[in-house]
Amino acid sequence: MNLAIIGSGYVGLVTGACFAEVGHRVICVDNDLKKVHQLQDGHIPIYEPGLEELVKKNVAAGRLSFTAAIGEAVDVSKVIFIAVPTPPQPDGSVDLSFVEGVAREIAVHIKEYRIVVDKSTVPVKTGEKVAQTIQRYNPGAPIDVVSNPEFLREGSAVEDLMKPDRIVIGVSSDRAVGPMKEIYAPFKAPILVTDLNSAELIKHASNSFLALKISYINAVAAICEASGANVERVAEGMGADKRIGRAFLNTGIGYGGSCFPKDLSAFIRISEELGYNFRLLKEVEAINHDQKERFLKKIRESLWVLRHKKIGVLGLAFKGNTDDVRSSVAISIVQQLISEGAEVRAYDPQAMEKAHPLVPEAKMVTTPEEVADGADALLLLTEWNEFKSLPWLALKKRMLSPLLFDGRNLLDPDEIRALGFTYTSIGR
Ligand code: UDX
Repeated sequence: MNLAIIGSGYVGLVTGACFAEVGHRVICVDNDLKKVHQLQDGHIPIYEPGLEELVKKNVAAGRLSFTAAIGEAVDVSKVIFIAVPTPPQPDGSVDLSFVEGVAREIAVHIKEYRIVVDKSTVPVKTGEKVAQTIQRYNPGAPIDVVSNPEFLREGSAVEDLMKPDRIVIGVSSDRAVGPMKEIYAPFKAPILVTDLNSAELIKHASNSFLALKISYINAVAAICEASGANVERVAEGMGADKRIGRAFLNTGIGYGGSCFPKDLSAFIRISEELGYNFRLLKEVEAINHDQKERFLKKIRESLWVLRHKKIGVLGLAFKGNTDDVRSSVAISIVQQLISEGAEVRAYDPQAMEKAHPLVPEAKMVTTPEEVADGADALLLLTEWNEFKSLPWLALKKRMLSPLLFDGRNLLDPDEIRALGFTYTSIGR
């Protein structure tokens, strides 16, 4: 089927590439001409495992193309996906101006039946507003609006999209169901058809629930520390219960990223607008904030005064396997250390370029060895797999004092202590 994807960011680009991979003809649209030219030349502006190969392969096969001309894409595509950013606003609500702008732009180009699909993460009732907007700017336009939330995780986005747990399709008219099912048939996943509002809520409710799981285990980790229990064992024991599940019970320095923090405050906000005080989720946010503070407190307790201390940081991305530093707790920790006078040297396998403008005072270095040189303490802040197998003994020898704070419980406490580190992790 001929498909248009408006917005070539994370979601748009991965969705476009995967749709092309299963045989659809996809036009990806972006209003950033520079980005469009980059993509046409085969340069992918983000780090996402497997994406570059997929884009190159499908461009070469003639199934995937890029343009800045939205009208061209609307003319030839039966289904138009909106995948533009929905950034947070200071009051916690979501800025929907990009979605609204695209709806207006699409509207004037619609001449025959089109399905307009909202893929961006949006508050409940946005789909209704998209439909109203299109009708306002093109009265009587033959359209159906669909909500089709994405559940892809950065770092495994291609895999998540190619092998989804479920596909959610929220419709306002049965007419859109057939084509939507046809698009997703090659993915061979269960398809759940709902009304528009329920589909939008599924996205916010799912992400908030996952964040809740993380805050829950982080709170349990605090009790483990106070009681001498081991949070890893507790998570294992809880997770073995199929009703609970082990996923998203990894304790750490708190969740970050472009989705969870934003989606939670948006969900709290829209709930308030609808007359419900979602206290539970406010507590999830508070615990997430405390988790970072508890980690910083441990560092202060060990180092006493942070001024002029040389602190080495391993990991800046908001999680492993990505170069994304949006709402990264690691960045927030580095900012705090710097504000208290520490001298920070940092290394991340992918995220240093994006991190630098956010923490210009931190010195970015190209190897973990340089991070360790003369350091008073090392902090492990992102769960990069490669950090597990660093030459830890050699790193320790380069340090001024062998303090190691593992914010992701990535290392084995017994093994790392046997090397002579004074090792602190979370909840164990
Ligand atoms: C999330 C959702 O998982 C995805 O379904 C949605 O579509 C987009 O938002 P993403 O933001 O890419 O994906 O990252 P995710 O893997 O969910 O991790 C979010 C944050 O939680 C990261 O900071 C991660 O380090 C943290 N996390 C995750 C934990 O602290 N513990 C865990 O057990 C899992």
